[in-house]
Amino acid sequence: MALKSINPTQTKSWKKLTKHFTEIKDVHLKKFFNDNSQRKQDFTINFNDFSIDFSKNRITQETIDLLVELANEVDLQDAIDKCFSGDKINETEERAVLHSALRTQKKDPIFVDGIDVLPEIKQTLSQIENFTNKVVSGSWKGYTNKKITDIVNIGIGGSDLGPDMVVDALKYYKNHLNVHFVSNIDGDHVQEIIKKLDPETTLFVIVSKTFTTQETLTNASTIRKWFLETADENAIKKHFVAVSTNLKDVTTFGIEKENIFTMWNWVGGRFSLWSTVGLSISLAVGFENFNQLLKGASETDEHFRITPFDKNIPVIMALIGIWYNNFFGCETEVVLPYSQYLNKFPTYLQQAIMESNGKSVDRNGNKLDYQTGGVIWGSTGTNAQHAFMQLIHQGTKLIPADFIGFEESLYGNIEHHEKLMANFYAQTQALADGKTKEEVHLDLKFQGKIESVEKLLPFKVFDGNKPTSTILIKKLTPRNLGSLIAMYEHKIFVQGIVWNIYSFDQFGVELGKELAQKIYSQR
Ligand code: F6P
Repeated sequence: MALKSINPTQTKSWKKLTKHFTEIKDVHLKKFFNDNSQRKQDFTINFNDFSIDFSKNRITQETIDLLVELANEVDLQDAIDKCFSGDKINETEERAVLHSALRTQKKDPIFVDGIDVLPEIKQTLSQIENFTNKVVSGSWKGYTNKKITDIVNIGIGGSDLGPDMVVDALKYYKNHLNVHFVSNIDGDHVQEIIKKLDPETTLFVIVSKTFTTQETLTNASTIRKWFLETADENAIKKHFVAVSTNLKDVTTFGIEKENIFTMWNWVGGRFSLWSTVGLSISLAVGFENFNQLLKGASETDEHFRITPFDKNIPVIMALIGIWYNNFFGCETEVVLPYSQYLNKFPTYLQQAIMESNGKSVDRNGNKLDYQTGGVIWGSTGTNAQHAFMQLIHQGTKLIPADFIGFEESLYGNIEHHEKLMANFYAQTQALADGKTKEEVHLDLKFQGKIESVEKLLPFKVFDGNKPTSTILIKKLTPRNLGSLIAMYEHKIFVQGIVWNIYSFDQFGVELGKELAQKIYSQR
């Protein structure tokens, strides 16, 4: 069944939100906290190992109530139900959107075109598990009978960013295999990777849902040629496997049938790390950890599916994002993980968010006259503090920020972790409270610089009132990482539903591809 098509700006709640915005847009966060000593508790949602504090956002309970009313008016629940039950809600491509099925822990059948997809999912999971165990244990041998030491994931976009981000994030849980990623068509990228490799001990995983992507096919054939400089064709089956929906072209490329890991057209590239696209994750950290990642994501799925909207983490994340995007007029939002392991998380989110919601026609094909997906960017704290945080603190732009932190560090270095988390909390407090003229005055006086007050004061004032959400997680485990990624996935979904756009196609990337082909063929 099709998604409903409701213009959010024509709803009653949108009108109420517009009025409400004029009432609270200038209220300082400090006032919200002064008026309600329970504010932090009131706006915190706890879920498994997560505690998410939305209190430092420029919202009141009325804002949340009206945003939830908006979600109800566009019938978000109907869209969620359709998505989870396999309706073809990716209507422009006539596909279901079922990445949640890949990680479900439930046994209820999920039908696409009358066929239950769960048995096939289970079968590919066993294939991933068996293959991972063979490679990790060393029973899978290369053509000279040596164990595999290195894995190279050849893919781009969703066939690269998700696995690369997760492998990096779960480095702590990694086994002895070295995992590399080749994505760019820039030949220097592949060259830099292969120069470190021994063909006798390297396994190549070609990941391409369509198996038509220029970058991936070019990199794969360059690598194949390099491999065949030392090995013969028979050796290919021990060193090349592929993940794809396009079995015909994979076979033509020379990959053996038993080395093909299938996927389905109801898995969008940018939501595919849970599928066979995650094979390099499983190889890097072992199947049990990969399974934990899936489990964590499925727990978020359940929370998202059944929790009332006012306590539903992805729904609240999405609605607050809409509040800033469409009412405050914010163009960008920043994600700041206070963990070096999550270094690649902002880049991963850029594809997930911007390829999904960078759309300007509604579900009826009409040009929109309101804003949709924003620009997402970010980096890890504390590095970001010494790079771009100045602009967020004192610049002219309002940039809502997600701070992501962990209660425990993985190696248990308490001194470092306490300093890291002191910075984490200090930033959100500084952004919310700012620093008044009076406080600057007092400071300068205290430092004995009373004669410079007049000159320095304006530069040292912080207006504050800069919104942040604090996502505090007990520990970086595969399960918690799975839950976190799924929260952002569902945030994307909710925003797409409210904005009345299609989030699961990406026609915008095609024109550049076509022109590149044309320019290349005319060279
Ligand atoms: O960039 C467009 C895109 O289609 C992405 O959506 C996708 O993740 C990527 O290309 C790679 O596609 P494929 O897995 O088919 O090679």
